[in-house]
Amino acid sequence: MKIAIGNDHVAVEYKQMIRDYIQDTYGYEVINVGTDSHERFDYPISGEAVANMVANGEADAGIVICGTGVGISIAANKVQGIRCVTCSEPYSASLSRQHNNTNMLAFGARVVGIELAKMIVDAWLTGKYEGGRHQRRIDMIKEIEERQK
Ligand code: RB5
Repeated sequence: MKIAIGNDHVAVEYKQMIRDYIQDTYGYEVINVGTDSHERFDYPISGEAVANMVANGEADAGIVICGTGVGISIAANKVQGIRCVTCSEPYSASLSRQHNNTNMLAFGARVVGIELAKMIVDAWLTGKYEGGRHQRRIDMIKEIEERQK
């Protein structure tokens, strides 16, 4: 399992802590796509970069972190095939996998504490897509993408 992880200048320490947590807890390869500097680094750059890696199969899933998780998730969701959820609690993280088959997770370094962020990551990484009745709705989302081309 390969996870691409990206961030802006607000979330440098969070990105590093979550990268280490995933490597130590799950043994997954974590590809560092974001910045490791506190110089201003615009979140759309990381959002798009991680999303492209997930969309083209270089990564199996992506995690993006900015101040709120909002801007970076909006950027990621502009890439075809990306379903990025912004979470501040584990329940939505888990359900977003089970029902929406999300392939990216976003959260805010200014919103959630690091231990809650780890719980959100756990819920998201261990959540399994249920398919069935949910697939029809995901197909409808794909159709929206097609109509926008
Ligand atoms: C940067 O100041 C901030 O706007 C960014 O980290 C994020 O919260 C945007 O959604």
